[in-house]
Amino acid sequence: MQLRGKTAVVTGSGRGLGKAIAKKLAMMGANIVLNDIPSSDSIDKTAEEFKAEGYNVIVTKGDVRNPDDVEDMVNKAVEAFGRIDILVNNAGITRDTLMLRMTEKDWDDVLDINLKGAFLCTKAVSKVMMKQKSGKIINISSVAGVMGNPGQANYSASKAGLIGLTKSTAKELASRNITCNAVAPGLIKSNMTDVLPDKVKEAYLKSIPLNRFGTPEDVANVVGFLASEDSDYINGQVIHIDGGLVM
Ligand SMILES: NC(=O)c1ccc[n+]([C@@H]2O[C@H](COP(=O)([O-])OP(=O)(O)OC[C@H]3O[C@@H](n4cnc5c(N)ncnc54)[C@H](O)[C@@H]3O)[C@@H](O)[C@H]2O)c1
Repeated sequence: MQLRGKTAVVTGSGRGLGKAIAKKLAMMGANIVLNDIPSSDSIDKTAEEFKAEGYNVIVTKGDVRNPDDVEDMVNKAVEAFGRIDILVNNAGITRDTLMLRMTEKDWDDVLDINLKGAFLCTKAVSKVMMKQKSGKIINISSVAGVMGNPGQANYSASKAGLIGLTKSTAKELASRNITCNAVAPGLIKSNMTDVLPDKVKEAYLKSIPLNRFGTPEDVANVVGFLASEDSDYINGQVIHIDGGLVM
């Protein structure tokens, strides 16, 4: 129960990696602020599940692209639990297609949610963390942001941008005892990867030395470590969780 008394905000946590991360942080003792878009069909169910397991949880529905929604999320978190110790910028989407077919909307939607959303949440939450003189910010990047991927110019750019945001945040906020790190998951079993064609999945498997896809829990365990005091001297780093895909 290393996170007893701490509060964690996890964006896009209705399902998938965000849900697994929120669950891990809850199991470590943290109060949980779930966030997802209002049209999410899973966030209420996730909150019920968490409550049934005895975790302290509130739901804040909102779009991370919208500064008013982000402000509302932060206000509700502070009202409910008095502080925010951990922010996990997890909300993300893909709009995969080759660059020549990629529309400006495909580009803007992905950059707005994956990168601008993380900026807005970091800015809003860091005001609370600066007053507390402590905090941990964890950004969910991707191996695509490190090595690029055909068909993912928008997604790769957003995830590479998150790495830059991570390092700048780490440098700006370190003097207030706030760290910022990123994780770069590889192929993780989730709704996002379920839709990949079998041929693409088989090709990926061949390039993963551990010869398996990751699980949401593989990612959640590392985020749990980065959210805990055990990682206090780690700042501005990108930790790959990819079975050795990128090295
Ligand atoms: N699955 C993978 O293999 C993989 C690999 C590397 C990185 N990631 C990253 O992990 C994160 C989670 O991915 P996932 O696989 O769980 O995907 P997912 O689609 O299952 O979950 C993403 C969640 O974010 C929410 N969301 C989307 N737009 C939002 C917005 N504007 N505001 C708030 N919430 C929003 C969705 O409703 C959904 O619940 C993403 O940032 C993704 O890029 C995933």
